[in-house]
Amino acid sequence: MNQPAPKAAPAPLESRRKMIEFDQVHKYYGDYHALRGISAVIREGEFFSLLGPSGCGKTTLLRTIAGFEDISSGAVLIDGKHMEDVPPNKRPTNMVFQSYAIFPHLTVGENVGFGLRRDPRPAAEKAQAVEQALEMVGLKGYGARAAHALSGGQRQRVALARALILKPKVLLLDEPLSALDKKIREQMQVELIKLQREVGITFVLVTHDQEEALVMSDRIAVMFEGEIAQLADPETLYRRPASRRVADFIGVMNFLPATVLGEGNGHVQLEVAGLGPVDITDDQAQAIPTGEPAAVGFRPETLTILYEGQTATDREAPGVIDEVVYYGDMTYYDVKLDGVEKPVRISMRNVFGREVLDVGTRTRVAWSPGALVLFR
Ligand SMILES: Nc1ncnc2c1ncn2[C@@H]1O[C@H](COP(=O)(O)OP(=O)(O)O)[C@@H](O)[C@H]1O
Ligand SMILES: [Mg+2]
Repeated sequence: MNQPAPKAAPAPLESRRKMIEFDQVHKYYGDYHALRGISAVIREGEFFSLLGPSGCGKTTLLRTIAGFEDISSGAVLIDGKHMEDVPPNKRPTNMVFQSYAIFPHLTVGENVGFGLRRDPRPAAEKAQAVEQALEMVGLKGYGARAAHALSGGQRQRVALARALILKPKVLLLDEPLSALDKKIREQMQVELIKLQREVGITFVLVTHDQEEALVMSDRIAVMFEGEIAQLADPETLYRRPASRRVADFIGVMNFLPATVLGEGNGHVQLEVAGLGPVDITDDQAQAIPTGEPAAVGFRPETLTILYEGQTATDREAPGVIDEVVYYGDMTYYDVKLDGVEKPVRISMRNVFGREVLDVGTRTRVAWSPGALVLFR
């Protein structure tokens, strides 16, 4: 029996060629400054996401790649070429929309082959291309069906196949999954990742869903009000958010008041409410002058409730359980650390045979200085 070949690691991003470059891109709608100096590079074969709240400029930025939106100043390059005078239909891009814009009166196959109308290849070859594209999106054998009879998830697959058959260098996806039910959406997320790896095309995804961005992307640009607040890989964004605002937008983060006592030799000394004196490294901290008020942030899963007889491997702090929310696989505890009014949230994976603790229980919480991030 042949074993399937083990998956090879993809080439590191930095070594790949630049597929999209934004250089100081500004966009005004009348007086409204929708894009405020966007500079970023997206690499060949990257799965790149634009993440941010509604109205922050994600769609506008995506449309500047497609050429549907003129920019007010700056430059957009695709595969090394300036796009200033290149109309949308001459750009190596294709777009998939949230409202899967397929033609309901055509068959699935006719929808997928729509972009090949003027392709001079013989009909049999084009039919084969349609079959291949359908297979890619998990719709093998659906070609003759009426498009209007498809479910939402299937329609979105048709829209994807229709875009992929044109073999664009860049596929642009504007909230393509947001109209789907949670289960189907999660399934499609995994399928999209696999598909992207298979075809190797650069994907740029717009989403307001932080979980979706974390799950799918090689890198994410977090946007607020027309600016990129942070551009990083999912793990860096989650572990080392660049600001409180980014930290708040991505997952749950606890904050405790802190004071900078001193710094030097790559370290910062703090006094943190509920935790006491703490020494962290420079890469965990924004530059904050000594004596100024600040806050440390940490994720709920970096804290652990200690059961009787357990000791912390690093540091521990006493407190009282203020709220318990049971999720089956997880329990969320809100704990009031001694000396702090606002409870911190702790997420604990439930273990068979270990009881869920009650509100009012006196407890100890294990924590690690390495998991803290210092913010202004
Ligand atoms: N054609 C337009 N004319 C005027 N304002 C627009 C136009 N398109 C978008 N805007 C404004 O630009 C901002 C960014 O919009 P958009 O890029 O669609 O945001 P997002 O996709 O992040 O929700 C919003 O405030 C929106 O109202
Ligand atoms: Mg949008």
